[in-house]
Amino acid sequence: MLQKLDDMLKDFRERAATTDTGAHLSELKAEFLGKKGKLNDVLKSLKDAAPEERKTLGARANELKNRIQEGFDARMKELELAEINLRLLKDRVDVTLTPSLRDEGLTDAGYHPVTLVQREIEDIFLSMGFAILDGPHIEDDYHNFEALNIPKDHPARDMQDTFWFADMHHLLRTHTSTIQVRGMEAHQPPFRFVGPGKVFRNEALDASHEAVFHQLEGMMVGRNISVANLIYFMKTLLSEIFRRDVEVRLRPGFFPFVEPGFELDINCLICGGSGCSVCKQSGWVELLPCGMVHPNVLRYGGIDPDEFNGFAFGLGLDRLVMMRYHIDDIRHLHSRKLAFSRQFRAY
Ligand code: DAH
Repeated sequence: MLQKLDDMLKDFRERAATTDTGAHLSELKAEFLGKKGKLNDVLKSLKDAAPEERKTLGARANELKNRIQEGFDARMKELELAEINLRLLKDRVDVTLTPSLRDEGLTDAGYHPVTLVQREIEDIFLSMGFAILDGPHIEDDYHNFEALNIPKDHPARDMQDTFWFADMHHLLRTHTSTIQVRGMEAHQPPFRFVGPGKVFRNEALDASHEAVFHQLEGMMVGRNISVANLIYFMKTLLSEIFRRDVEVRLRPGFFPFVEPGFELDINCLICGGSGCSVCKQSGWVELLPCGMVHPNVLRYGGIDPDEFNGFAFGLGLDRLVMMRYHIDDIRHLHSRKLAFSRQFRAY
């Protein structure tokens, strides 16, 4: 009988070691310690044994019960740990690729069309000796307005519906002209630079207006710079970008930071001039406001207007992208639709 009990423990241990789930292990335990289990069978047969033998056997049976319980607990711990590890392995999250993008088959990436065009224009200006400057999105009143000859209460502020911070002093920059001010603060003339970036306005959205869009500012300051120099650079830029001659027209335009100021329009490349939603049926698209830097702006920038002068321009990047790729609605650009953005790769 004692031998039988010892064999039972051995049997339990061997079989427990090969169980692969907690549920199987529990079944195994019931087979030994349950009501109709093997141990109870042995205990039932005790009543036929001699009193002495009954005592030893009873003690040994109790010990066996404890050993089986111990073996059960230890193996259960192992199985639980293995199950956790397995789950961790299976549920591993690939943080480098969201499942939705992978599901849509996005295995390679390209640049956004605005980035593509921005880089192309940067290259054109780099080749003409311009530096590339950057500036903050959050600006102060001084850099966005004041130093650009737009004092408080000047009606020109109404042209740009602005996102102000609660202090009514900081704002999301409404144009990249802020980079003119920062460029003048950091450089001594003569200099020439461009400054691309996002700008923000509280716009009513339609096919040609977004609240977040992109501009590329340009500024050249030196001695005896003329409108002819300005026109030369603008024409070179546009023929490089469109890789063909585009029709342009120059109109007088008012901006407080230039004098004289111009509006440079190009013929609408979407409709070829017959009229569409982008050109508001006019056949012309306002693309490049520009002018000769106002003496006050130079003074704010610490530059003597009697010695130096220059020109500046502010290119609307999104419109240029739309012309370039025949996109008929500016809202496509921030739609984050892959069907749209996958058409653009690299240049
Ligand atoms: N900052 C102007 C705007 O966003 C655009 C502009 C006009 C920039 C004339 C210039 C300029 O540099 O000379 O409306």
